Amino acid sequence: MNVEREKQLAAAAAADMVEGGMRVGLGTGSTVAYFLHELARRNLKAMHVATSPRTADAARALGIVVEPFNVLDRLDLVVDGADQISRSGWLIKGGGGAQTREKIVAASADRFVVIADSTKLVDRLRAPVPLELLAFGLASTLRLLGNTTLRDVGHSPDGGVICDFHGDVSDPAALAQWLSSTPGVIGHGLFAPELVSEVLVGTGNTVQRSSSGGTQ
Ligand code: 5RP
Repeated sequence: MNVEREKQLAAAAAADMVEGGMRVGLGTGSTVAYFLHELARRNLKAMHVATSPRTADAARALGIVVEPFNVLDRLDLVVDGADQISRSGWLIKGGGGAQTREKIVAASADRFVVIADSTKLVDRLRAPVPLELLAFGLASTLRLLGNTTLRDVGHSPDGGVICDFHGDVSDPAALAQWLSSTPGVIGHGLFAPELVSEVLVGTGNTVQRSSSGGTQ
């Protein structure tokens, strides 16, 4: 298995979905880096917003114009990677610590397309789940969460603290609800199947496509 080749194939398939005039959200990560190259190669006139400063810088370096995401209220297509894609369609994202912005951008999209190599497909999700926490009350929030480690990556672009939750992830819906309702949690890396329109997984020399998140 050539993981880089698989990322590239998935990224190219997603780039084929972009049309001139679209409002496009750009995810974060190494698979998205391939997508940016494919997008730049196609040289379409589209509007783009980025989920992280890292992606914005990489896109601009390739000549892709990136707008701030404070005026547009809706995007046509968002393409992003994932750390884990379960058979039931749940994702874990946030390996790059960008999960809060990634979820905001994904939620604004008519179509949220996930691109990945085949190592990201899992039968069941595994910890950790990336979190972004408010710095205010951090010690208390960590105590409420339990089993959470701080990541040594500095603050998010929005001033949040990036952490990883290592507890039980066997019921992602219940965990997502609990994390969302815990004061001090700004965002978490569990993405529900309802958010996902299509998953494109590079598998050997082809791309496996599945709709509505599920891969079973
Ligand atoms: C960043 C993310 C990435 O999309 C995820 O970590 C996958 O990254 P890669 O494509 O490098 O494997 O969620 O916050």
